[in-house]
Formats: sequence, structure tokens, C-alpha cells
Amino acid sequence: MNETLSLFPITTRRDEKGQMMIAGQLVRDLVQQYGSPLYLYDGATLRSQLDVLRTAFANHYRGGFEITYAAKAYFSLGMAKRMAAMGLGVDVVSLGELKVAKKAGFSPKMVHFHGNNKTVPELLFAMEWGISDIVVDNLSELVLLETMAIERKQVINIWLRITPGVKVETHRYWQTGDIASKFGLPIYDGQASEGIRFAQASRWLKLRGLHTHVGSQVFDAAPYGEALKRLIGLAGQEEFIAAELSPGGGLGVQYTLDDKVADAVDWVRTMSAMLEKECGKRGWPLPKLLLEPGRWLVGQAGVSVYTVGAVKFSSDGTYIVAVDGGMADNPRTAMYQAKYEAALVDRLPSGMRNRASLVGKYCESGDQLIPMLELPEMHRGELIALPVSGAYQLSMSSNYNMASRPAVLWLEDGRAEVMQRREDPAEDGWWMSDGS
Ligand code: LLP
Repeated sequence: MNETLSLFPITTRRDEKGQMMIAGQLVRDLVQQYGSPLYLYDGATLRSQLDVLRTAFANHYRGGFEITYAAKAYFSLGMAKRMAAMGLGVDVVSLGELKVAKKAGFSPKMVHFHGNNKTVPELLFAMEWGISDIVVDNLSELVLLETMAIERKQVINIWLRITPGVKVETHRYWQTGDIASKFGLPIYDGQASEGIRFAQASRWLKLRGLHTHVGSQVFDAAPYGEALKRLIGLAGQEEFIAAELSPGGGLGVQYTLDDKVADAVDWVRTMSAMLEKECGKRGWPLPKLLLEPGRWLVGQAGVSVYTVGAVKFSSDGTYIVAVDGGMADNPRTAMYQAKYEAALVDRLPSGMRNRASLVGKYCESGDQLIPMLELPEMHRGELIALPVSGAYQLSMSSNYNMASRPAVLWLEDGRAEVMQRREDPAEDGWWMSDGS
């Protein structure tokens, strides 16, 4: 077990006794006060990630820009309020996310509504709130939206989601820009052109920009340049000068010491260079560039902390260490074979190293957090923390086995604030209500 502190939030340290501290607070104390499992978000790490992007834009892009957080990575009212206060926009994909964004105080002008199958109630909510923009995914949605706009006598700001035919290297479930994707209007078969023509001919739809999202957990900047080039090529062909362009999100983060490290500056520089070249060629002004990072902003800021319970050896000699969470709060290992590292909260690992498996408490063998790692001898009651837990864990969590979702804390300025309270199965569980 290597010491993995570099993957943890930037404020993580060990005190003289070897105990882990985040944002100046002992993790052990936080668990004592707020219970286990516990999720922590470090404000300084999130702000520093945002800073890197904002500085990269300021230094390398001469057009306007906006950073709009992909709420699906992790959203709750507590997080949403903080993000709105940081001046971020937000990308939402459901009525739930729309409602949280509204309640948190986001300006509707900073909200983009994505999704490949938005429902009528969702679209109505977005129209009533007056968001900029609805990101139309397909021709059927374009027709539906125009009908709704006519009925309501309301002009709607839209973007079109384009499928550029750009494939990125990542888990196949996270590739979205290739021609066979369920998302967007493909360029190659003419649907994208048809969408642009339809929108431009409509009195009720105001086409303001083009969007694409090529994938998630991507480390190479080149596909982003290529995707933007194709969007501009398409726009040029249809004589549509886009005021806004978005290459989506997807910038990767380092989950393990073996993972690559993404270069956000290179990302921004590659996109800027491409836009300068392609717009310059056509004599177009530089569009406003909107990025939609999710994982990049919140991944490293988040830590999941568990308490060790049962410890045993399986018959093949694997040292099985079970914790009080697992696939209900983090289904990523089970779903994607995602890789994680772990660190002991109260001490540095020492002594005998065992070929171990860190498993959860839920009732299937797929419930593993880290199927193979090295661990010293562990004892009931010890705490173990997994770094890079901020994205797509709680947002994909479930109540499997009637599990309750953990509490989530925001750590900043020497304080811990509850951002999401622990679910109480006796009070909040849907299973406690029979509808009567
Ligand atoms: N924009 C759009 C339109 C998206 O679909 C996504 C992610 C993002 C932005 C943000 O991507 P990010 O910057 O976070 O990579 N559940 C998977 C990830 C699915 C990503 C879905 N779309 C996981 O656990 O890794």
C-alpha cells in the first residue's frame, strides 16, 4: 500500500501521530461527530481546480468564456449554492437538477438543459424559468419544442447538440462523440445540417450555439480541437455564425498513482488555437466558449471515509476487509471496474502487507471497492479513506439493501458544514411509505 496522499484534496496532511487531516480537521473527529460512512468535500481543492481553468482561459483564449458545472457529477442543494456563489453556470439533465439549480439561486441565464430525451414537464419547467439554453438533442425534440413554443407564444433560446464523429480513448460507456452514439445530431448523415436549417427557419426557436460532448475521463486534448473544427465546418456549411460553442466536459482526473494526469492548460490552449484558426479563416468573431467540467471540478475535492468491520481470509488466502459502505454509495467499481486507491486514516500503513480485497457490506460479490490492493493487518473500527470520490459516486448512489446515503460535509476555513444530511431509513426511506 503506497502512501497516496497526493491523490487526496490539496489540504490533506498527517499530524505528528500520523492521523489524517483535511482542511485542518482530523478526519477521525469528523467521523465521530457525523457518523460513518462519511463523504467530505474540500473547498480549497475545488476552488483551485476552478482557478486553473479560469486562468488558462484568461491566458490563452481571446474570446469570452464561461465555466458551467456538469451537475450530474454531484449535486445537492448545499453544493449547488456554493457553486452558484463561485460564479459558475450549471449544466442540468433532469427536473430534479433543474429544481435544485433554481432553489440554489442560479441565474436562469447560466443554466443549460441537456439530455437525449427531455420530457414535456421538464421542458415546460425550463421554459417557464426562462433558461439559456435548452440544448436540443434530436430532430424530434426540435419539433416538440417548436410546438410548445408556439402554444406558449414564447421564443426559446436553444443550442443544438452535434455528434461530430470523434472517438475518444476512454471506457466505452463514456464515449459520446462517435457516430453510433445515442446523443446528438450526427454530422455525417445530414441530421445536424437539417437541425440547423430547421432552427434557423423557425420564428420561435432562437439558435444561439452548437454543443458537443465527446466523452468523459479523457486525457488527450486533440479530440476537442478536432470536434470544434467539425462544429465550425458544419456551421460554415450552413452559413450559421455561432455566437456560442461548447465542446462539453470530460477532462480526466487521476484516480490512482498509475493514472495519467490531464493538462487543463493544454486542453484550453488546443481549443483556443483551433478556434482562432478556423474562425480567422472565415473572418468570424471568436465565439463565447463554454466548458462543462464535472469530474475535473469535484473529483479530487471529494473523499469517502469508511469504518472497517469484519476482517477475514478467504480460502484462497485473500485478506478480506469489509467496510460499512460499498456499491450503494459508490457503484463505480461494480459498474465500470473503476480503479481506486485507499489510505488508512489513523496511521501510516506498516507491518505485514497482505494481498487484500476491500469490500462493501452489500449482498453480492460485485460489491467491492478495491478488488485487489495491499493492506496491513486491519482491525474493526479503523477508518479507511478513498480519494477522488467527489464525482459520480453519490450522484449514482442507491438504496440497495435499503442502505441510507451517507452524510456529506463541506470543509473550508477550519469549519465543517453539512452539505447533505445522512439519510435516515426510518424517516426518509421510500420503503417506509405504502402510499397511504
Ligand atoms: N457535459 C455533458 C453533456 C455530459 O454528458 C457530461 C458527462 C459532462 C458534461 C461532464 O463530464 P465530466 O467533465 O464529468 O467528465 N458515470 C460515469 C461518467 C459519465 C459521464 C456522463 N456525462 C463515471 O462514473 O465515470
